[in-house]
Amino acid sequence: DDKTSMARGSLIVLEGLDRSGKSSQCAKLLSYLQSNGFSVEAWRFPDRTTGIGQMISSYLLNESQLDDRAIHLLFSANRWEKRALMERKLQSGTTLLVDRYSYSGVAFSAAKGLDLQWCKAPEEGLIAPDLVLYLDIPPEKAAERGGYGNERYEKLEFQKKVAEYYYALRDSSWEVVDGCLKMEVVEEKLRELTMNCILKCQNGKPLVNLWS
Ligand code: TMP
Ligand code: MG
Repeated sequence: DDKTSMARGSLIVLEGLDRSGKSSQCAKLLSYLQSNGFSVEAWRFPDRTTGIGQMISSYLLNESQLDDRAIHLLFSANRWEKRALMERKLQSGTTLLVDRYSYSGVAFSAAKGLDLQWCKAPEEGLIAPDLVLYLDIPPEKAAERGGYGNERYEKLEFQKKVAEYYYALRDSSWEVVDGCLKMEVVEEKLRELTMNCILKCQNGKPLVNLWS
C-alpha cells in the first residue's frame, strides 16, 4: 500500500421535497457514521454562508427579486464555488453527506417552466454523486408535516410540479426510499445503502462528473 492509493470518500446526496425529512435524516446518518469511526462531513446546498449563498438566501426569503434564469445560475455557481474543496475532501478519504444538490437545482427551476436541458447545462462537470438517497413523500403529506415555512417554493401546487421533475431526473445512482415509513425504518435503510456505497468507493469505484 502506498499513499497515492488511499481509499476515497463517497459523495452521498439526499434529495426530496421540502419537509420530506432530509435534514433530520442527514443529521442522524452523520452521527451514525461518525460514531463508527468514518471521516465524514455534512454539507448542504444552497450553502448560505458564501456571498452567492447570501444572495440566494435573500431571494428565498422574498427579500429580493431575481430573474428565474439568474437565480438558477446562482444556485449552480454556489455548487461550483465548492467543487474544488469537494474533490479534495473526497480524494483525501472524507465522505460527504450533502443535503440537496444539482437535482434540486434542475427540478425546482424546471418546475417554474424553464427548459429541462437548459437547466441541466450549468451542472455539467460538477462531481456526480455516488449515491442519491431520494426521500419519497406525497406533496400533500409533506404539506401536512408541521407546515411549510414562509420561503419561496414552499407551496403545495409548486411542490407537486417539483416532484414530477425529480421523477424525470432519476438515474442509476438513485435509491428511492419511502419517506412515509417510520423515522427509524427510514434511518435503517439509509444506513444500509450508505454503508454499501462507502464500501464500493473504497474498493475503487471511480469519481465521475455530471451528467454521466
Ligand atoms: P433548503 O430549504 O434545503 O435550504 O433549500 C432552499 C430552497 O431552495 C428549497 O425550496 C429548494 C430550493 N433549491 C433550488 O431551487 N435550487 C437549488 O439548486 C437548491 C440546492 C435548492
Ligand atoms: Mg426549506
